[in-house]
Amino acid sequence: MAEHFVAPASLAELQMALAEARARDWPLTLLGGGSNLILPERLPGLVIRPAMAAWWLEEGEEDEEDEVRVHAEAGVVWHALVMALARLGLWGTENLALIPGHCGAAPIQNIGAYGVELCEVLEALQVVDLADGRERWMTPQECAFGYRDSIFKGALAGRVVITRLVLRLSRTARAHLGYGDLASRVGKAPTPLAVAEAVCAIRREKLPDPAVLGNAGSFFKNPVVSQALAERLLAEHPEMPHFPQPDGRVKLAAGWLIDRCGLKGLREGHFGVHERQALVLVHFGGGSAAELLGFAKRVASRVHERFGVTLEREPRLAGER
Ligand code: EPU
Repeated sequence: MAEHFVAPASLAELQMALAEARARDWPLTLLGGGSNLILPERLPGLVIRPAMAAWWLEEGEEDEEDEVRVHAEAGVVWHALVMALARLGLWGTENLALIPGHCGAAPIQNIGAYGVELCEVLEALQVVDLADGRERWMTPQECAFGYRDSIFKGALAGRVVITRLVLRLSRTARAHLGYGDLASRVGKAPTPLAVAEAVCAIRREKLPDPAVLGNAGSFFKNPVVSQALAERLLAEHPEMPHFPQPDGRVKLAAGWLIDRCGLKGLREGHFGVHERQALVLVHFGGGSAAELLGFAKRVASRVHERFGVTLEREPRLAGER
């Protein structure tokens, strides 16, 4: 429960709320859709949930130009935007369909799925500084994007609120169908809508709907390990999914590691490991954030004991810097 809550519908309202929080020395928590956040039972101070929710194509871009710039304010529901852009026949975000949450949160963990990451289509973003309420624009380079990572989880954590994204989409086909069986599901003449619908179908088969069964998506990042460790593990488990990285290290599938420890479908109290995708921890209702973190720690310890691989938590803990 939040001590104070505001859902500003404009930049000016947001700036007013920030000024009040500064004047009263309230701690601040920023919320988007809340889908990638672990919340404690009580949140002190002010909780701000940006409610600016307009999106539009950049002026003069509704003609035949190939590249199209799309502006989306922080409160726009990401999946609704993806589907609207796919229906317009615009390429770029279709692989990111059905990711829960709001646009303002998408850059924080650089959302990614089915071979595409947000940073590949992001041209710029607008932030408001929590310290002085001033707005400014940032380039993707300044955001230091990585796998499930950005400057908003590091040096700028708790220091800015993301208020608007500018995405660059394309009218010419540029389908990314390399992941899993996406290509065979889409067929011979892919459209952005067909790709988005195929991605939705795959996600629905594996991932629990947070509206039905509480979850924060992947609870762990896929670990990136040294080549030596990957080779040792592969000698014993040749079937282990592994993805060599440009820097020589190897990304492993956390879901596979947890699954191989026999933990899929495990339930302890109010929390469990999802029965169709072991990377997702699920919440059956009740319990506490501390209990969830304890459960996650036990899952990670089992993986470490068995494979010598350290799993890192992916969703953020509210109030964590
Ligand atoms: N696997 C298992 N058992 C499991 C789960 C997975 O053996 O219980 C194996 C799969 O068979 C496959 C491999 O592990 O060979 C990878 O699984 P999957 O394709 O389902 O993807 P993932 O690596 O587990 C990542 C993202 C997802 C994203 C999918 C598709 C992370 C942390 N997770 O999962 O993102 O949707 O790829 O691109 O990178 C999220 O971040 O919340 C999220 C759902």
